[in-house]
Amino acid sequence: MINSVNKRKGIILAGGVGSRLTPLTLATSKQLLPIYDKPMIYYPLTTLMMSGVKEILIICRKDHLESFKKLIGDGNNWGLSIEYACQKNPRGIAEAFLIAEEFLGDSPCVLILGDNLFYGNNLISQLQNANTNEGATIFVYPVSDPSRYGIVNFNKNKKAINIEEKPKNPSSNFAVTGIYFFDNNVINFAKELKPSSRGELEITDINQKYLDKDNLNIQFLGRGMAWLDTGTFDALQEAGSFIRTIEKRQGLKVGCPEEIAWRSGLINDIQLRKLAKKEKNEEYSKYLNNLLLNF
Ligand code: TTP
Repeated sequence: MINSVNKRKGIILAGGVGSRLTPLTLATSKQLLPIYDKPMIYYPLTTLMMSGVKEILIICRKDHLESFKKLIGDGNNWGLSIEYACQKNPRGIAEAFLIAEEFLGDSPCVLILGDNLFYGNNLISQLQNANTNEGATIFVYPVSDPSRYGIVNFNKNKKAINIEEKPKNPSSNFAVTGIYFFDNNVINFAKELKPSSRGELEITDINQKYLDKDNLNIQFLGRGMAWLDTGTFDALQEAGSFIRTIEKRQGLKVGCPEEIAWRSGLINDIQLRKLAKKEKNEEYSKYLNNLLLNF
């Protein structure tokens, strides 16, 4: 059973241009594209649910707002409260905290990128552990192409010394993944940021501020875990195949909001049965009903 814990609020950043995926993204958001049998945003959304967050702000582009609302609504069906805000231009990941200031109030938060997919053993306990931490928590994951990511450099004692955005000559292969837990100070840190040379408010600068104050927890995602971002044609296709393989093999769905809401106690058996009844896709409906029969 997943514990729904404190008042930490979630943000899904689902704006951006999606330039690497045109023409797919000319008329819709990247985050609404399919990863096998679900829209991409279901994966980060369910990751937030698994971390125990119930109040979520989805930040998207204005021209995609109605589509997101049509897909996800106010979250009530899944025991969530979901709000929306728009990002005018993709001015960087850290702008999310400025856009979300009113939504957050004095709460701590967790931000996840709308095109990031996490899957694996122990994920729920790692997320819930981060949820109870003070300060900030980021997750790092070994990658084969570190020059494409924000990279954490460590000293001989495995203590983090700095975070470098897309280093030309990386001295570590631990990439910072797209889920970040922060206390409420993040809003003030975001206000102090200046745009980088590429004109963006960088999440790396925020993480570096927490590191400088010795207030950054770094959790390692092991090799039993998958972290995929889905921003290119190949990555999109690979993520779809990955989910398809797991789902076919186990007969269990990855990133199914109804299931996670039910397992977390956000909705009860009666509510799940109602959702199954309303579902037009027979196979999906059967899957939800079978959850009640099996375990
Ligand atoms: P990116 O993949 O860096 O950017 P993008 O989605 O616009 O794609 P491309 O590089 O092909 O043009 O963004 C990572 C995630 O963060 C993605 O889910 C979009 C989101 N994002 C925003 O919503 N606003 C922003 O200002 C930025 C920089 C990213």
